[in-house]
Amino acid sequence: MIYLDHPATSWPKPPVVIQAIKDFLDAAGGNPGRSGHRLSIAAGRIVHETREALAGLFGVARADRVIFAHNATHALNMAIHTILQPGDTVLTTSVEHNSVMRPLRAAQARGVRLLIAPCDSTGAIDLDAFRKLAGQGVRLVVMTHASNVIGRIMPISHLCQIAQASGALTLVDAAQTAGAMPVNARQTYADFIAFTGHKSLQGPPGTGGLVLCTDRAECEIYPFMQGGTGSRSQSEEHPDVLPDRLESGTPNGAGIAGLGAAVRWNRSSECDSQHERQAHLMEYLIGGLMNISGVEVFGPKAAVDRAPLVSFRVSNKYVSEVGHRLDEDYGILCRVGLHCAPAAHKTLGTFSEGAVRFGVGPFTSRDDVSRAIEAVSEIARDG
Ligand SMILES: Cc1ncc(COP(=O)(O)O)c(C=O)c1O
Repeated sequence: MIYLDHPATSWPKPPVVIQAIKDFLDAAGGNPGRSGHRLSIAAGRIVHETREALAGLFGVARADRVIFAHNATHALNMAIHTILQPGDTVLTTSVEHNSVMRPLRAAQARGVRLLIAPCDSTGAIDLDAFRKLAGQGVRLVVMTHASNVIGRIMPISHLCQIAQASGALTLVDAAQTAGAMPVNARQTYADFIAFTGHKSLQGPPGTGGLVLCTDRAECEIYPFMQGGTGSRSQSEEHPDVLPDRLESGTPNGAGIAGLGAAVRWNRSSECDSQHERQAHLMEYLIGGLMNISGVEVFGPKAAVDRAPLVSFRVSNKYVSEVGHRLDEDYGILCRVGLHCAPAAHKTLGTFSEGAVRFGVGPFTSRDDVSRAIEAVSEIARDG
């Protein structure tokens, strides 16, 4: 079996991640921050250590500005629904995932004005259009760091600076980039970064979060939910201190323990060399697919311009047929179709059928990629 569905979720996880989850459940299974006994304290310490590791990863000085969420979708909703009020204007791009588009469409139905900056069919954003739209009294700009279909890395720091010069807050969807490349709060100039644990960070499903990168971000976000936090139990009002202000209910302690191990693994030298290898594999994969007659590869041609994923189509073949044959005949697992991103496919011109998407991970080998290229080449040859 060759697993090339990393943009959907990474697999297999590094053994240290699995071990950390097991250790948490075996030896630290209390409710973090709730009780005073040793298992609760041990759990609370692990949650705090993960928060600190994430603050280091994203380059924020205060760990309490890392807010845990179930996934990137939860984090994006937390910001979008609490910041945007009827009458506000929000700006996004034409290559967003439904985790951005659906909450924005819901906000639009509540009376928020939605503006969409166009990208061309390679995923490159029209900077002039973006600048003009950002000047139209925008309260929040929400944009992906890299499209999950096209892979192109957006000029995020430039876009955030344009948006902030117009007075807008910026929310970056780093679902496809966190863990695959540096995502630094200061370098991106973002106010908020939404991330997920289960993709390139190599953490478990059910983990992710929202990073409050600036003082403005801290002031302008409100609790999405209220409930138990373990702090200020005497009060029926939700506490105003971070991170409790934005976290309520028992956290996913086991998942957060796994995420902490994943972040530490991600920051190790072992992972650095794997990122370099991953970039070479992407060059090899894109080049190999582009050389197959009848295969159309979408997005930028250079791997350095991409998150570690590539979408393509085989002429005269339905993408569902290609996906089925890859799985059944070659044991290659990938995702075909619209990838929860109809807007990105409309931008590419691949709506409504979609495309085939491959992604590589830290454990993908050169042999896996060779076999995938060979499989696509055979499928393309079979008239
Ligand atoms: C660009 C992008 N944004 C958001 C998401 C949602 O991430 P999660 O599964 O963590 O909610 C995804 C997942 O595919 C994605 O690719």
